[in-house]
Amino acid sequence: HKQQAWSARFSEPVSALVQRYTASVDFDKRLALFDIAGSIAHATMLTEQGILSADDLASIERGMAQIRDEIASGTFEWKLELEDVHLNIEARLVQLVGDAGKRLHTGRSRNDQVATDIRLWLRDSIDQTVAQIRALQRALVQLAAAHADTIMPGFTHLQVAQPVSFSHHLLAYVEMFGRDAERLRDCRARVNRLPLGAAALAGTTFPINRPRVAELLGFDGVCQNSLDAVSDRDFAIEYNAAAALIMVHISRFSEELVLWMSPAFGFIDLADRFCTGSSIMPQKKNPDVPELARGKTGRVTGHLMSLLMLMKGQPLAYNKDNQEDKEPLFDTADTVIDTLRIFTDMVGGIRVKAESMERTALQGYSTATDLADYLVKKGLPFRDAHEAVAQAVRFAVERGIGLEDIGLEDLRRFSRLIGEDAPEALKLQGSLAARDHLGGTAPNQVRAQVARWQAELNQA
Ligand code: ARG
Repeated sequence: HKQQAWSARFSEPVSALVQRYTASVDFDKRLALFDIAGSIAHATMLTEQGILSADDLASIERGMAQIRDEIASGTFEWKLELEDVHLNIEARLVQLVGDAGKRLHTGRSRNDQVATDIRLWLRDSIDQTVAQIRALQRALVQLAAAHADTIMPGFTHLQVAQPVSFSHHLLAYVEMFGRDAERLRDCRARVNRLPLGAAALAGTTFPINRPRVAELLGFDGVCQNSLDAVSDRDFAIEYNAAAALIMVHISRFSEELVLWMSPAFGFIDLADRFCTGSSIMPQKKNPDVPELARGKTGRVTGHLMSLLMLMKGQPLAYNKDNQEDKEPLFDTADTVIDTLRIFTDMVGGIRVKAESMERTALQGYSTATDLADYLVKKGLPFRDAHEAVAQAVRFAVERGIGLEDIGLEDLRRFSRLIGEDAPEALKLQGSLAARDHLGGTAPNQVRAQVARWQAELNQA
């Protein structure tokens, strides 16, 4: 009795536990449509090379069309005993079209087949990820466009540092996500190469045409070494690394959203639909979505470690270890794409509390550097200016007042260079406007950056 495609060589069937342990169909069935596309391209090439007949190809195409319909309608019967997506589809094809189905696997192995499927799936996932990054960038730029003149305290060490434009702060994330998209574009070029033709590991005795299969499947080229083609998953690791960085950026943003929404900051409010309440504390409105995203960052980073560990001990060429690449990889893509999508919506629903941001900037001596710069422009060496202003800040802190509340007479005690125009240097608006160079926070610079991103994102 013939249970598996490979059972002829065996004297007893595998135990139920081994069957369940080694099967991957529960999760790799999501590769089905890519598997079918790969099979049709392979069969087309075999036919063009005179290895299959035109009738065989027609039968295979007909059978695959039906299988696609069965999968779409949910009537396809996935069988654990058939191990994985590849053997399930092949067995059904043979049921439907007979010998033509049995000829499909000529010059092919599941090893180059699965590598091809993952690359096709990943290429698609990369394109979806990039599209979602672009959408999130658009949402951030749109919010930034309205807030070039909104002043918030910039922080270092989470202590008020210097005032910045809220747009400038948002655009910092747009830059980070821009590099994330670049990384995915680079990674895509290495993903998009064809393993098929490598067969099990050494190539095949049939006169195949690999560039033709690559062309049919939209690959940019073919893997040049059959051993490498079936065995490395570095392209998947690269994607997961890029995804982990996306999540790290999302996580930093999440942390800020959570802080900003805390009444202690009170910088923003998130739309109710992204928050939940408490079953005991009636007043609560919790920023669950950013918190959960911060948590999911650990999961995506964990998947990166899984894939690296999966690869490190494997001798060439294919080993079954590689079956373990799918669950982490699928979950990484699902998590990243969903997170980007939900953040795009959430950014659109941020309510900015500009007065509260500005008040905090005023309370934190955030223009102390501006007063020091003022003294430098009057001729004082910077280190002396720093000290003079530090004394003034200490004076103000002791009295619980702001620098701008110190009268001119008192202020002049810290430096005789302080003149009538000094209070102007302490104003938040002036502080921003003075940082008027490429990459600085002056509102006109920020507006230029918004325009640059708008132009770039409209093309992308
Ligand atoms: N399910 C396998 C995987 O995901 C397919 C390749 C199996 N090849 C083999 N010779 N056992 O990697």
